[in-house]
Amino acid sequence: MMRALQYDAYGGGAAGLQHVEVGVPTPNTNEVLIKIEAISINPIDWKIQEGSTPFRGGGLAEFAVATESLIAAIPSQVSAAEAAALPIAALTAHGALTQVAGLKLHHDDDGHPKNILVTAASGGVGHYAVQLAKLGNTHVTATCGARNIDFVKSLGADEVFDYTTPEGAALRSPSGRKYDVVINCTTGIPWSTFDPNLSQNGVLVDLTPTLSSFVTFALKKFTFSKKQLLPFFANVKREGLEYLLQLLKEGKLKSIIDSKFPLTKAEDAWAKSIDGHATGKIIVEP
Ligand SMILES: NC(=O)c1ccc[n+]([C@@H]2O[C@H](COP(=O)([O-])OP(=O)(O)OC[C@H]3O[C@@H](n4cnc5c(N)ncnc54)[C@H](OP(=O)(O)O)[C@@H]3O)[C@@H](O)[C@H]2O)c1
Repeated sequence: MMRALQYDAYGGGAAGLQHVEVGVPTPNTNEVLIKIEAISINPIDWKIQEGSTPFRGGGLAEFAVATESLIAAIPSQVSAAEAAALPIAALTAHGALTQVAGLKLHHDDDGHPKNILVTAASGGVGHYAVQLAKLGNTHVTATCGARNIDFVKSLGADEVFDYTTPEGAALRSPSGRKYDVVINCTTGIPWSTFDPNLSQNGVLVDLTPTLSSFVTFALKKFTFSKKQLLPFFANVKREGLEYLLQLLKEGKLKSIIDSKFPLTKAEDAWAKSIDGHATGKIIVEP
């Protein structure tokens, strides 16, 4: 038997999680049984519970089974918590920058740097997006709350501004730059706020697309607009994880841990993620 958390109805937030004892899962063909040392919480976890997304998943337990092609070995130099922070958040940041925005990382390109805006750069996805973007030929502008400005600068951002000020809310770069790429890790900011800040061929990568995002996406596509809104969903693959683990091992990327909770207090980790004010990643350890 093993300890795990589960819920049996949509809604309820942290209070809807129940501590249970269940059987250790049995792997099928092409699956591996994993003894869990660390788990990271992502907003998708509680959005699944809310019933607001069609995806499925979960791993608040002492053991889990996973498809072999989706797992990667952790180098000895990397802690379980630093590695557990990667899936979803870092994979999303990496995919958005490279697959959607076409940024080349580790590039000795001495041409004109791409101007990149990362919104909510203090969060799980954003803190990886800033660091990964700086591996390419970029000028990175980032938004976060006042208390995190120095933290986000320490990740490599060239300019950082407070999203709660009027200038910040308008997403205007302090240096007057227009953005070639926006990695939008916030929710609720309309296209009309991004539009005047985008360069002529600027691309807004929306990680939390709403109906209105899909309408804008279609409108921009069908009117051959040079400015585009592109919705993006992370793609979990072993190659992506191995690449990011290698960056951690080489010290080129850091997983910033906001807080750690034991499995007995996993509901507090859940509530903290719902609260939406983490700096980096929230970790649960069985
Ligand atoms: N498409 C995908 O595959 C995918 C994958 C992962 C995540 N996502 C989505 O991406 C979003 C971000 O996820 P996450 O894990 O990075 O969230 P998170 O870690 O919970 O983000 C929290 C951080 O965001 C900051 N923040 C909140 N609103 C902000 C704003 N308007 N401007 C600047 N900073 C703001 C908060 O700063 P303060 O505390 O100062 O307010 C806090 O540091 C979520 O909606 C998530 O569902 C999508």
